[in-house]
Amino acid sequence: MKHKAQATPGCAIIPVIHHQCIIVLILAGWLATDEVLGCNEYMVDTVTDDKLTASSIYNLNYPAAKARLSSTGWSPDKDEHDPWIQVDFGRPLTMVAVVTKGLNFKTFDEYVKKYKVRYSNTSVNWMTVFNGTNDEFEANSDRTTPVTNTLPSPIVARYLRLYPTEYYSYRSLRFDVIGCEGNANLKSY
Ligand SMILES: *[C@@H]1O[C@H](CO)[C@@H](O)[C@H](O)[C@H]1NC(C)=O
Ligand SMILES: *[C@@H]1O[C@H](CO)[C@@H](O)[C@H](O)[C@H]1NC(C)=O
Repeated sequence: MKHKAQATPGCAIIPVIHHQCIIVLILAGWLATDEVLGCNEYMVDTVTDDKLTASSIYNLNYPAAKARLSSTGWSPDKDEHDPWIQVDFGRPLTMVAVVTKGLNFKTFDEYVKKYKVRYSNTSVNWMTVFNGTNDEFEANSDRTTPVTNTLPSPIVARYLRLYPTEYYSYRSLRFDVIGCEGNANLKSY
């Protein structure tokens, strides 16, 4: 490929800033921000119980379907090395944040202090969400207070998995995903 030395009208030429480019960039930035700010539905609330699955459960009191924020909580088998809980939205959608809480079952004081997030469209190939070089998100410090982690950038995928990595007492959690239909980054008004 030949590179043109000549300045041509366009946003790629850094020293030459055209007014129409600035306007287009400001407008694009405003639309993108506005759209993602409006992308704020609790998406796990919208799926049926069978869309929540997990690598294992501690026992029948702690199934994946009880991982909703409004329910009692999911717990994996105590011996599982790298357990996860998954939501299948059935189609790709935009996710901007993850909310977690600890267990709400009897008086057991159990919650997840750190987790990893993976996402996929196939449930075969998984991508990990990184915040810079860090792939663990700081989560709860008690079992009742919801903690929201805004993803470094919105992801568009059908499946999301949470992998508890650090915990207090036991790897028990409730969660939801804040997002919206479709690809919010591509939508325009
Ligand atoms: C991402 O990393 C930055 C810098 O370490 C930190 O301030 C921020 O809280 C992190 N965000 C999340 C969602 O973990
Ligand atoms: C999933 O599919 C959507 C729609 O085709 C696409 O925008 C998104 O990037 C895909 N996500 C992954 C993780 O492949």
